[in-house]
Amino acid sequence: MKKYPLKLKLSLSYALVALLLVASVSLISNLFFRSQFEQYMIRQQDSKNREVVSQIEQQFDKSTADGREQVLETIGVSALERGLIIKVTDLAGTVLWDATVHNNGFCRQMRQNMAAEMQSRSPNFKGAYEEKDYTLLVGVKQEGTVSVGYYGPFYYSADDADFINTLNQVLLGVGFASLLLAILLGIYMAKRISDPIARAIGAAENIAKGNYQDKIHTASSTRELDRLTASINSLSTELENQEVLRKRLTTDIAHELRTPLTALQGNMEALIDGVWEPNTERFESCHEEILRLARLVADLERLSQLEDENTDLNLSLIDLRELADKALKSFEADLLKKQITVSVTGKPVYLEADADKLRQVFVNLISNCIKYTPDGGKIDVSLSQNRETAAIEITDTGTGIAREDLPFIFERFYRTDKSRNSRSGGSGIGLTIVKKIIGLHHGSITVESELNRGTKFFIVLPLHCSESRHGE
Ligand SMILES: Nc1ncnc2c1ncn2[C@@H]1O[C@H](COP(=O)(O)OP(=O)(O)O)[C@@H](O)[C@H]1O
Ligand SMILES: [Mg+2]
Repeated sequence: MKKYPLKLKLSLSYALVALLLVASVSLISNLFFRSQFEQYMIRQQDSKNREVVSQIEQQFDKSTADGREQVLETIGVSALERGLIIKVTDLAGTVLWDATVHNNGFCRQMRQNMAAEMQSRSPNFKGAYEEKDYTLLVGVKQEGTVSVGYYGPFYYSADDADFINTLNQVLLGVGFASLLLAILLGIYMAKRISDPIARAIGAAENIAKGNYQDKIHTASSTRELDRLTASINSLSTELENQEVLRKRLTTDIAHELRTPLTALQGNMEALIDGVWEPNTERFESCHEEILRLARLVADLERLSQLEDENTDLNLSLIDLRELADKALKSFEADLLKKQITVSVTGKPVYLEADADKLRQVFVNLISNCIKYTPDGGKIDVSLSQNRETAAIEITDTGTGIAREDLPFIFERFYRTDKSRNSRSGGSGIGLTIVKKIIGLHHGSITVESELNRGTKFFIVLPLHCSESRHGE
């Protein structure tokens, strides 16, 4: 299909609409005007005829029988000059005066002229010589009949024809002017619409090339166009952020990998060079570094799976309390070693969720609690529910988190104390994974903490995850 520029299409459609409008308006007004004008002219003709008749009536009474012919002739001749051929008869049928008798040649000539003139002024006009009889009334008494001959149904003069022509010209002029105006307006409007679109296209092309700085600043007065530019701007901001994140992730991962690798390399070199005795303790230390690396890679893998847009939740009805108990059981040895007491409070809470993923949430949170709680501390898991949501509170009596660190603990690789963590083996991804999983379930997680007192994680989850997903 051939593609046309928007500007051309818009201007053409404006012009077309204007053309149709002008054509229909002039057609309708022309038809309407013509019929009105014809009726007016017919009435005009009739009153012209009656005027002559009433002139005759007025004079008829005053004059004697002899003087009558003279009077009739005066009126008749003046009527003839106005295109009326008059014949007056009395009651007995005697012709008192007849224009054709008076000047037959002139009458014939006049009829021919009128027909020819009307023909030239309006070729479609169907007119002919007509005669109409009017009663001649003197007082209330009928004295005879006046027959008026004229070119009918009406005749218009050169002045009238001029008037009609002028009117038609004005109509035509108005039509052309509005057409021209419509085309100009069309071009202007098309420009107003296509310019911002062109700008948006330019910006989108720039974004495709990786130039995120090029934002569109000009506002248009069209709501949709404003939304288009706004969404392109936010698209470019979003892409820019993604780009920054991607770069940061690479440097972060490189940084995270370097520490254990350097340690391993050092250990190995010391062993090879014979600086270190190859004993079990040395090997175990190397093995630990390798485990750390493996854990980091496993965490990253899990995170990237969760970040995959197509992550599907494997939903089933689960008992939160059972899940918490199971998760705690896997830490039995650590808890025993650190003499930490654990309590789980609250009734069983059933909700629709992905069991494996929620188990991961408990494992990550409880492992943190154990890690950051000194020997002899306490961990409490409390469950509750209301009509639509389930709540989980996990509290410990551990080291707590400094206020300035709180906003960042859910971020990837964020650890409050790097040196301590590298010893304890955390990579700073545990809470990021927790937050992702809760997000996938349309829940929320918040944290409260006080240094050296303890930390409380508070999770709210919808009971019917699939419904709140549909409700988006
Ligand atoms: N229960 C807690 N008590 C004290 N600090 C915590 C607790 N949970 C998390 N943190 C802090 O949040 C940081 C991020 O936690 P996390 O993402 O699990 O990473 P990791 O456990 O690998 O260090 C931890 O390094 C720690 O500083
Ligand atoms: Mg952790």
